[in-house]
Amino acid sequence: MSRDPFSLRGKTAVVTGAGANGGIGHAIALGLARAGARLAIADIDAAGLRHTGEELKASGGEHISVLCDIAAPPEVEALFAAVDAWGGGIDVLVNVPFVFPGRARPHEVTLATWDAMFAVNVTGYFLCIRQALPRMLERGGSIINIGSNAGVSALGRGAFVYSCTKGAINMMTRELAVEYAGAGIRTNAILPAQTMTPGLEAHLQNPEFRAGVLPRIIAGLPLGRLMVPEDLVGTAVFLASDASAGVNGVLLPVDGGNLALNASGSYR
Ligand SMILES: NC(=O)c1ccc[n+]([C@@H]2O[C@H](COP(=O)([O-])OP(=O)(O)OC[C@H]3O[C@@H](n4cnc5c(N)ncnc54)[C@H](O)[C@@H]3O)[C@@H](O)[C@H]2O)c1
Repeated sequence: MSRDPFSLRGKTAVVTGAGANGGIGHAIALGLARAGARLAIADIDAAGLRHTGEELKASGGEHISVLCDIAAPPEVEALFAAVDAWGGGIDVLVNVPFVFPGRARPHEVTLATWDAMFAVNVTGYFLCIRQALPRMLERGGSIINIGSNAGVSALGRGAFVYSCTKGAINMMTRELAVEYAGAGIRTNAILPAQTMTPGLEAHLQNPEFRAGVLPRIIAGLPLGRLMVPEDLVGTAVFLASDASAGVNGVLLPVDGGNLALNASGSYR
């Protein structure tokens, strides 16, 4: 019987930002486990991490949990050392975390904010990738970076630094895809549009955001709805699995058609 190309059975995946808060990393971690992967989950949030670990345990999935700030090199080293000690190597790395402390127009951004956002959203991904690559060199692997539609087209409304960090992730993805294809290591990015996570839900509590920004967001989503974390799961399983063996260096929108839509286009 031929192997299901979408199966992750026998593969080990490291997912950062996997704490159970109803976000994208949480959904992807559970989804990769459902597809059969062994999971090393990491997050800066101890309670969230514990919760995801309990969910993985309840579903019978093999996993380890490691508290880790991806912006702190010793903590990232410790994460990958823990995966080494667990055994089985690493086949998949999914980089998810981000910080976005608040909207600010470009001329109002402090250097401290710029540095703090790049530290997690860009340097954190690099630090994890730098640990994963040597471990994948002999066996191949799949690296999945969570980017954003904001890394491709401009959002305005004070998203300047966030968008710059996501643009950097796109080039990081393409450079890695080219550098390591010969070693059988594929690197791709998933670009979600606005996704109903606790962060977005919090914004929706603000009447000004709900009345002013939400209709604009929905108008930019030809599917006519926000994404939900589960929308990202199938794409992550695909990119992690052998089903995507020829897919490398792709910036794959999961955005309901947002990036396909001309800003002056009509879709109704
Ligand atoms: N939610 C959206 O609308 C949306 C849209 C486009 C792209 N994205 C991208 O999707 C990814 C996940 O977004 P989300 O909304 O699910 O976020 P989230 O806040 O729900 O999840 C992010 C997780 O990362 C963890 N984290 C934060 N800083 C960390 C650090 N330094 N080290 C380790 N873990 C850390 C958090 O504790 C949290 O569990 C991000 O890269 C984000 O840019 C989200």
